[in-house]
Amino acid sequence: MAIIAVKGTHDILLDEASGYAYIEKVFAAVCELFGYRDFRTPVLEYTEVFNRSTGEGSDVVRKEMYTFLDKGERSVTMRPEFTAGVARAIVEHKLYATEDLPLKAYYYGPVFRYERPQLGRYRQFHQAGVECIGVNSARFDAETIALAMEILGMLGFTGLHLKINTLGDEASRNAYREALKEYFGKHIDEMCEDCHDRLRLNPMRILDCKVEHDQEIAKNAPKMKDYLSEESEKRFYTTLSILNSLDIEYEVDDSLVRGLDYYGEVVFEVHAVSKTGKDYGALLGGGHYDGLLSALGGPEMAGVGFAFGLERIYSVMKDDGLLNDLETGIDVYVMPVGEEVLDDVFVLTTNIRNLGYSAYTPMAAGKLGSQFKKAVKRGAKYALIIGSEELEKGVAPLKNLATQEQKEIKLDNLAEELDAIFGLEEEHHHHEE
Ligand code: HAM
Repeated sequence: MAIIAVKGTHDILLDEASGYAYIEKVFAAVCELFGYRDFRTPVLEYTEVFNRSTGEGSDVVRKEMYTFLDKGERSVTMRPEFTAGVARAIVEHKLYATEDLPLKAYYYGPVFRYERPQLGRYRQFHQAGVECIGVNSARFDAETIALAMEILGMLGFTGLHLKINTLGDEASRNAYREALKEYFGKHIDEMCEDCHDRLRLNPMRILDCKVEHDQEIAKNAPKMKDYLSEESEKRFYTTLSILNSLDIEYEVDDSLVRGLDYYGEVVFEVHAVSKTGKDYGALLGGGHYDGLLSALGGPEMAGVGFAFGLERIYSVMKDDGLLNDLETGIDVYVMPVGEEVLDDVFVLTTNIRNLGYSAYTPMAAGKLGSQFKKAVKRGAKYALIIGSEELEKGVAPLKNLATQEQKEIKLDNLAEELDAIFGLEEEHHHHEE
């Protein structure tokens, strides 16, 4: 067997990893602006956590989980999403009793689903998301959607397509499920095997079926909006009117039901097609839920949240050139000229790092021409050239590798020299913006 990455997983290396790190940084910063706190839960959970919450009616739980018995014969699962684990942690640590509510948690990391790999679809992928738990409010629902859009805006996305729908309260959903059962019951003989299970477990899942013939049948199915309670309808319009007042564009899509079992009231997804025309699938999905904490042994408490697929965010940003200006290179590449300066160059490089500038030296004296090539490859901004003469005089040439401009700097005054140069560069950037 070839020694390669497991099917459906992928390495994220070098420039790509810098891209992911940048997305996560912007994501976390905007979450903090909205009063969210970092939240980290284990990759492994007892399988029960997902069965009870994400739901036995969902494809994710029924077919896609990485579930196995550990050495103590306990059934454990590598999380297929974060929401269930976050809710489990809040219940386990009784944070609903000790923290001011709503508790606002953000998270990012790997998740696992045994799906058929294809464009935008992996078996190990990465999510970044939030949960706002403990206050039942159409306004927090709206704020959560606004947060998702703000993050995408900060990342430079334009032309986003926000789809939104309401699944109503429990009574609305039960009435709707009955209507769907009746309708699909008449057609089930012509429908796929999966839909037979869905009809039994949760007929709303049928609306998500990807089989063309089943989609045709689903087109004429009863519509959620005809089964909404007055209260759910009012609640939905409260959320929509806040989005209006924030100038957030959306499309109400009554076929949007989402693939996980815990949702009720508002649900949403954001789609974007990259400039290359590739459709990687939904960039994010989310919605409101009511029974999640109680299903895990906690109190009746509502929540709302969403999760981005980082692979999809990254792919669209890459295709659209939104990651071109990422600075990944080092600040100063220190070039030793001659073996005899290597020790001093080592110390000098360390000093530059201690001043807060990234620095690299090859630890060997090579030809200057090849050193310049390597510096460019490393994305260095400046080259500092050090021979014994420079060390003697205490003055060395610092070359801007973008403009080729060169300036002599005093080595015993490095802090001021570098601050002046990098400070100027900052200012220059600001002028350009
Ligand atoms: P989800 O829609 O299952 O929701 O996943 C969220 C996002 O993860 C999707 O929109 C997509 O971008 C990405 N994604 C899903 N599956 C894959 C895959 N196989 N490969 C690559 N990316 C994928 C949830 O997981 C909910 N926990 C979201 C949520 C939070 N709802 C409330 N709070």
